[in-house]
Amino acid sequence: MSVSILVGIQWGDEGKGKIIDVLTRDAEMVIRFQGGNNAGHTVEVGPEKFVLHLIPSGILHKGTDCVIGNGVVLDPLALKKEMEELVERGIDVSKLQVSSRCHLIMPWHKLLDAFKEMKADPSKKIGTTMRGIGPAYTSKMARTGLRAVEILDKARFEAHFREEAAAYNETYGPLGATALDVDQAFAEVWTACEYIKPYIQDAVVSVHKAIKANKKILLEGAQGAFLDIDHGTYPFVTSSNTTSGGACPGAGIPPRAVSCVWGVIKAYTTRVGEGPFMTELDNEEGEMLRNKGGEFGATTGRPRRCGWLDIVACRHSCQINGVDYLAVTKLDVLDDLDEVKLCTAYKLDGQIVEDFPADTEALARVEPVYESMPGWKVSTTSATCWEELPENAQRYLNRMAELLDAKIGIISVGPKRAQTFER
Ligand code: GDP
Ligand code: IMO
Ligand code: MG
Repeated sequence: MSVSILVGIQWGDEGKGKIIDVLTRDAEMVIRFQGGNNAGHTVEVGPEKFVLHLIPSGILHKGTDCVIGNGVVLDPLALKKEMEELVERGIDVSKLQVSSRCHLIMPWHKLLDAFKEMKADPSKKIGTTMRGIGPAYTSKMARTGLRAVEILDKARFEAHFREEAAAYNETYGPLGATALDVDQAFAEVWTACEYIKPYIQDAVVSVHKAIKANKKILLEGAQGAFLDIDHGTYPFVTSSNTTSGGACPGAGIPPRAVSCVWGVIKAYTTRVGEGPFMTELDNEEGEMLRNKGGEFGATTGRPRRCGWLDIVACRHSCQINGVDYLAVTKLDVLDDLDEVKLCTAYKLDGQIVEDFPADTEALARVEPVYESMPGWKVSTTSATCWEELPENAQRYLNRMAELLDAKIGIISVGPKRAQTFER
């Protein structure tokens, strides 16, 4: 059995794309199982940089089957654009499969995302990527969504599209939401649907064939555990299960087929969008991490909020995900620091708390309790093995693993494929 799941341990942008690309050397199939084009997964190959939003990061390895699983919400316009851009850059997309069970992000979902954010009280804004993710999952759960399989029958698709578009105009028009020009919207969406139609298939069949043939399969998570709809900092989360458990329903894979869970963890913390950030550094140190780490959103370009590594939150995340191995990324970003800090507990209303509080309002008022360690003040970017890391960097990683009760399997010291080694 060789099905592995890779998930983000924090608030996303941990470097999942890079690690997927590295692990794809050994994988024959890569599957996205949740989220949509809210994701931005960066892969650097030689001098080239690719940012993937919907297409699995394995696509850059010729010959790897890439599946957009049923748990993904799919914007046909965004997928067409991404495919065209890859083709233009010489990437073969012929091995892409789109699950016929994917729910579709339709134009009204994007308008609703923007409308809800605009109307929200400032303290309630989520700071979404505006890609229509929440509204599309809402339609899925409300059992009114359009699925990819409907694209295979134009008349059926068009009728459902027009019905839902009209319902949007009737419901939200009077509230001041932007009205949808249904004819124009349909024409645009249908052009994209025709483009992606040849890739739509029953992915459960091909995935199970691959499992039966004992092929190496990698499930690529998007976002991170603190954005999980159940386990994240609700309501400042995304609308899917970003944790490893979500991979099974999102790809149609039974839990017993999974043999390994990888958790990607950044050596510090970042967050894009609103919501509590317990170890945020709203100061020069945070600014230094942002600049050195190039912490600007791969999807929206927004500056990412930065702070120290939060052990309390990451321990919760490692437990929920059942992490077998951690891939620690961006260690090099800490290279110049005199000291590095780990948040080992929170102080909440005068009490020390070591378990991750469920109450987001409590999270917003906790004070982090830090353990400080000396920095290493040496560049790690050309390290090729554990022994080449400075001693204080080794100490930091060992302490992280000890506090998280997890094994480190991979260490990343730069954005390139080669800047990666096993522990
Ligand atoms: P993802 O969403 O988890 O795939 O992560 P993003 O691609 O949004 O953000 C990670 C950023 O860090 C990208 O710009 C990567 O090229 C870069 N990156 C990944 N690993 C490392 C690393 O070890 N060191 C440095 N300096 N950059 C890295
Ligand atoms: P990757 O896969 C970081 C954040 C948004 C917002 C919240 C909800 O690249 O790690 P949504 O548009 O999903 O309704 O927004 O989730 N968010 C991400 N933050 N990385 C991502 O993806 C994200 N996808 C969504 O900023 O706070
Ligand atoms: Mg990202």
